Amino acid sequence: MAKGPNYVCSACGAVHSKWAGKCESCGAWNSIAEEAPIGAGPKPAQRGRSIVIADLAAEEAPPPRAASGIGELDRVLGGGLVPASAILVGGDPGIGKSTLLLQAAASFAHTGLKCLYISGEEAAAQVRMRAQRLGLAQAPVGLGAETNLRDILATLDAERPALAIIDSIQTMWLDNVESAPGSVSQVRAAAHELVNFAKRRGTAIVIVGHVTKEGAIAGPRILEHMVDTVLYFEGERGHQFRILRAVKNRFGPADEIGVFEMTGDGLAEVLNPSALFLSDREAATPGSAVFAGIEGTRPVLTEIQALVAPSNLGTPRRTVVGLDSGRLSTILAVLEARCAIPFAGLDVFLNVAGGMRVTEPAADLAVAAALVSAREDVAIPPDMVLFGEISLSGALRPVGQTENRLKEAAKLGFSQATLPARSKAGQAEGMRLRETADLTAFVGEMFGAG
Ligand code: TYD
Ligand code: MG
Repeated sequence: MAKGPNYVCSACGAVHSKWAGKCESCGAWNSIAEEAPIGAGPKPAQRGRSIVIADLAAEEAPPPRAASGIGELDRVLGGGLVPASAILVGGDPGIGKSTLLLQAAASFAHTGLKCLYISGEEAAAQVRMRAQRLGLAQAPVGLGAETNLRDILATLDAERPALAIIDSIQTMWLDNVESAPGSVSQVRAAAHELVNFAKRRGTAIVIVGHVTKEGAIAGPRILEHMVDTVLYFEGERGHQFRILRAVKNRFGPADEIGVFEMTGDGLAEVLNPSALFLSDREAATPGSAVFAGIEGTRPVLTEIQALVAPSNLGTPRRTVVGLDSGRLSTILAVLEARCAIPFAGLDVFLNVAGGMRVTEPAADLAVAAALVSAREDVAIPPDMVLFGEISLSGALRPVGQTENRLKEAAKLGFSQATLPARSKAGQAEGMRLRETADLTAFVGEMFGAG
């Protein structure tokens, strides 16, 4: 029985007889795509083989890992590189992905791992120049400059490296896919081949993907589900700090971060990020609050800065760097509705110092404190850290890892902390704790506001 192609809506799954811009059953636009008809398949007796079913309890050794010696990278990977894993490293163009991976390849190579670095963006001479600048010209890394993925896979098959770096996926192309390099189908197909190769041959593969603004070139997002580990390399252009963040990791904790500094000769590890993020803090400025946060398994202290100024716009500005803007709106609304501190007619600027991005709800209290401090022009004591989640009722909720946050603060010379009541503070030596149950009481005590 021969059938024509089906047109299937990718949103609701409805099957249509012809293509249309809008799906008639769910109303979604541009969601209908052609799908090859499913063949009749073999006779029942020939369908499939039985697969092996094993016990969950069977002993399985933890995957052997290779450490690069770059501690910040190894920790983000969950303790080192796992053989046969596929790792996606995403980030804005120019943020330092190629630099990081060339340094990583050199470090892995020095531990005796066979590493290949395949660049589709730069000629071999350019990569060599970069290596010289980084002082890595003598590292035993194999270098290739190629964009034809079929040739690259054949080479990997022959060379059998333990680690191959593909920089970047948007430059790779497969001859059996008709669209241009960088298109969704090329990027997907190329990544699929690479991930398959990693699993079959036991080579760990790092795929570099540029984050792109909406447009003709596919970003790394569409590959996240295909790989084992997704790392994003982020940072502000003007800042020298770079943060490598694990957003997905089948072999370790997600949310782990590694902090680097871009220097004249490559990326340097930052071993104590808290000290660095707080290093150029001015003493007792209104609008500044220190948040004791947790990034992955590690406590990190950051300074939250707020500026509040009269606005001459009909809709006052709300400008946020390093935090979710929705979170800022919520906190402003809670301050207005529960604590009677209005922000109408005021421009609000909020910034996390040092180019760090904070995603924890535990930052709420420090954000609120910075905002009220800026508005009332009253400084928060410079030796105080704050953390706690604010609920819509204005109550403060305890957050996880209170003890670790306090320990890190004490280590960096802070001597008091404001935190939600009922937090499991444990032993906080040398820290004076101010537990508070709701936001209104806190802003009243601290700033005499509300
Ligand atoms: P790159 O690794 O090429 O970025 P990506 O691969 O993510 O596009 O990094 C390029 C930037 O890094 C470039 O603006 C110059 C800067 N850089 C340094 O500051 N120091 C260095 O040692 C190197 C190699 C690059
Ligand atoms: Mg690059």
